[in-house]
Amino acid sequence: MIASSTLSIIYLIGSVTFILGLKMLSKPDTARKGNLIAAAGMSLAIVGTIFLYKVNDAPLHNYGWIFTGLLIGGVIGVLSAKKVKMTAMPEMVSMFNGMGGACAALISIVEYNHIYTLTKNLFAPVADDHLVLQLLESSASKGMVLIILLSLVIGAVSCAGSIVAWGKLTGKIKDFSFSGQHLLNLGVLALIVGLSVWLLLVFSVAPGTGIILFYLIFALALFYGVLFVLPIGGADMPVVISLLNSFTGVAAACGGFLYSNPVMLTGGILVGSAGTILTILMCKAMNRSLKNVLIGSFGGGAAAAAGGGKEQGNYKEISLSDAAVVLAYANKVIIVPGYGLAVAQAQHACHELEKLLEEKGVEVKYAIHPVAGRMPGHMNVLLAEADVPYEKLLEMEDANAEFPTADAVLVLGANDVVNPAAKTDPASPIYGMPILEVENAKVVMVNKRSMKPGYAGIENDLFFQPKTSMLFGDAKKVLQDLLTAIKEV
Ligand code: TAP
Repeated sequence: MIASSTLSIIYLIGSVTFILGLKMLSKPDTARKGNLIAAAGMSLAIVGTIFLYKVNDAPLHNYGWIFTGLLIGGVIGVLSAKKVKMTAMPEMVSMFNGMGGACAALISIVEYNHIYTLTKNLFAPVADDHLVLQLLESSASKGMVLIILLSLVIGAVSCAGSIVAWGKLTGKIKDFSFSGQHLLNLGVLALIVGLSVWLLLVFSVAPGTGIILFYLIFALALFYGVLFVLPIGGADMPVVISLLNSFTGVAAACGGFLYSNPVMLTGGILVGSAGTILTILMCKAMNRSLKNVLIGSFGGGAAAAAGGGKEQGNYKEISLSDAAVVLAYANKVIIVPGYGLAVAQAQHACHELEKLLEEKGVEVKYAIHPVAGRMPGHMNVLLAEADVPYEKLLEMEDANAEFPTADAVLVLGANDVVNPAAKTDPASPIYGMPILEVENAKVVMVNKRSMKPGYAGIENDLFFQPKTSMLFGDAKKVLQDLLTAIKEV
């Protein structure tokens, strides 16, 4: 009795820390603390469950298995999180999300087998009274089988889809589509739904049946997860990962229902709803509907081919010393960070440049595009790592209002997010995506290593405009050289 009320209090504390942690994650300056608070709540809930949870009034056993699993998972998690490069974060998030989906599917497999065995034995002579009670309860529980199926299908789709997304982000799996693929996907989905309904009907008539059907649904759900992500174009990966993340949350919430576990339910609902909101926000940032993302193949091979070969004319270069003069004598400079800044790990050098310019009386701000880099909030995290004050970061709409007042814009390793084709070329695969309108500033200087395209694989007309000058080189090296050159101005 005491153990059960202590566990309820622990679950309550766990749920509150999740909500608090999530709230704090929404601001860069409180995000780290929020993460730690939610992790502490999760640890408390795990420890409480292991030592206080009771099954049929008996405490958990199998401690050897539980702690070995915790140790292996914990060591892998800590080592991979410590080792991962900032630019490889989306891959890791995707893989971890897949593991969450796998857990939900495995819980369903264990629980279905449990019910299956219990209800199968219903017709056999049973000695244990408690078991009889359980059998009667479970055989009546069609709702439980429904939740198990939901968790199985959503978890398996999320697991297989996230692993394919990981493969695509690491470049191990290429975009793959064929005509009629979306029809095949719909067909497989309809088959999964149909077989699930059938299993529910079979189960209600003759409990203890349908095990083969159950595993067939599981296999089809894994297959659907692969089919679902394979054709989606590279630039849409963040939206898909966030969507899969919300799937995992829903699957975990099903687990919460299954075990009447409030902390699992709260955690699952929070992940599910936060993932859904993020998916919607990212679709908005790219000005695309979710349907379009899922069946549009944006940013894939076809997209690259569409814009890749267009003749653009000449571009001009600017020397380091000229760039230093432009920056040092400007009144206002807006820096546009992109994926290349993260690749070069040039955030600290960038902050040094900002401080040096401010010492010279130049006003410096940063323009942040919501999908710059390779994960939501990538640029915010990158710049926060270098202690760039949060007030200096302008969101896209505010930045677009300020570009006309800027003397110079310095684009550092950004490409797609400043591509005017998104506004001017209806044939472009990124047409309609809101962009940073840097061309409205007096001068635009673009730092990258070559004329190669960005993530969407398309040419950028900005580089060929009269106002634009290219400042070639690795972002870190260029920024360090700029610092030296500005000091000499
Ligand atoms: P990109 O369009 O990918 O362009 C990055 C540019 O950085 C490249 O053109 C590259 O040109 C340059 N670069 C690479 N390494 C560099 C280095 N060491 N020094 C200097 N420049 C370097 O980046 P973006 O403008 O940030 O746009 C993001 C794109 O990724 C969008 O298409 C977005 O949809 C997609 N995406 C976003 C996310 C999220 S949620 N943020 C996730 C996945 C995909 P060079 O090779 O010539 O140097």
